[in-house]
Amino acid sequence: MKALILSGGKGTRLRPLTYTGAKQLVPVANKPILWYGIEAIAAAGITEVGIVISPETGEEVKAKTGDGDRFGIQITYILQEQPAGLAHAVKVAQPFLKDSPFILYLGDNLVQGELGLFLEHFQSRDLDALTLLCHVPNPSAFGVAKVDEQGRVLQLVEKPLDPPSNLALVGIYFFSPVIHEAIASIQPSARGELEITDAIQSLIDQQKFVEALQIQGWWLDTGKKDDLLEANQIILDTCLTSSIQGQVDAASKISGRVQICAGSRIINCTIRGPVVIGNNCHLENCFIGPYSSIGDAVKLVDADLEHSVILQGATIVGIHQRIVDSVIGQRVQLRVAPQRPKALRFMIGDDCQIELCQ
Ligand code: DAU
Repeated sequence: MKALILSGGKGTRLRPLTYTGAKQLVPVANKPILWYGIEAIAAAGITEVGIVISPETGEEVKAKTGDGDRFGIQITYILQEQPAGLAHAVKVAQPFLKDSPFILYLGDNLVQGELGLFLEHFQSRDLDALTLLCHVPNPSAFGVAKVDEQGRVLQLVEKPLDPPSNLALVGIYFFSPVIHEAIASIQPSARGELEITDAIQSLIDQQKFVEALQIQGWWLDTGKKDDLLEANQIILDTCLTSSIQGQVDAASKISGRVQICAGSRIINCTIRGPVVIGNNCHLENCFIGPYSSIGDAVKLVDADLEHSVILQGATIVGIHQRIVDSVIGQRVQLRVAPQRPKALRFMIGDDCQIELCQ
């Protein structure tokens, strides 16, 4: 069994963060989204892992993730020149996959729980494809499945206007090598992509064994800002353990589960967990409320925030109005003068969203 993780594509829905970086490297609880998938695959005992990368962000993904040693696996990087669809990515990876069965894992998905039980189901029933499904309120935003009572998949449609059910395809699939023939038989969809959904439908049309299992826990497709904040909240709720490696002065008050990494200094702050603070941060006169993740080398002085994600190297000074539900990109500088400011001075990148609310 091998695994193929897709970490190419354009990431348009997470702009502006994805103008300068891969969407799969955006952190959730200070860890790149992509790494959660890698860890789940490694935990299922799979050691040969291919990662599909794009020309724009591939080098960054490689540099950050490495050769797999840190996860106990072997990673092969596979360049996909154009984001021409999920099935196209599998086609490009065929020389790596050869005739092995494999897990296809979309690198921007976060799923609770282990892959082991699904893998066992796929292998013990000798299936050609196993898809995972989840009930969603907005099925038109996903691939949608119609299944019978035995869990056999009858029909799959990609982002249908009139969905046949509210069961969305989660971005994790198990395939036997017959999927390569199915991919060779399909044409690009209306959005110009070779869809894995269409390839699986072609397996169904040929009476191959295609089943589905519903996942029991949460599933997050981290496509947009609010999905990212929700993912951050859930991961901090379920996975964070307290540990204080940095320095905290006597005037600071820490409560709940809080992780403060090495080299960080906390001076006269109130921090209410769950909160994670990366390496080498400087926090002074701040309130940090629940569900906040603060990346490495962040400087926060005279600032209040909660339920927010602050990326590496950002600086926020003099903002005591509470910053909430916010994602602040790498190296961003937000400064407010100590007296009531008479003017606002901005240098804001394309597609940014700024709301000054009541
Ligand atoms: O998240 C689940 C959904 O993922 C499924 O319900 C849909 O059936 C499936 O088509 C897919 O839809 P998305 O529109 O969300 O896929 P997206 O374009 O976001 O791509 C998913 C991941 O694959 C993402 O990490 C980028 C990567 N990718 C995407 C394309 C189109 C590639 O590596 N190469 C590509 O060509």
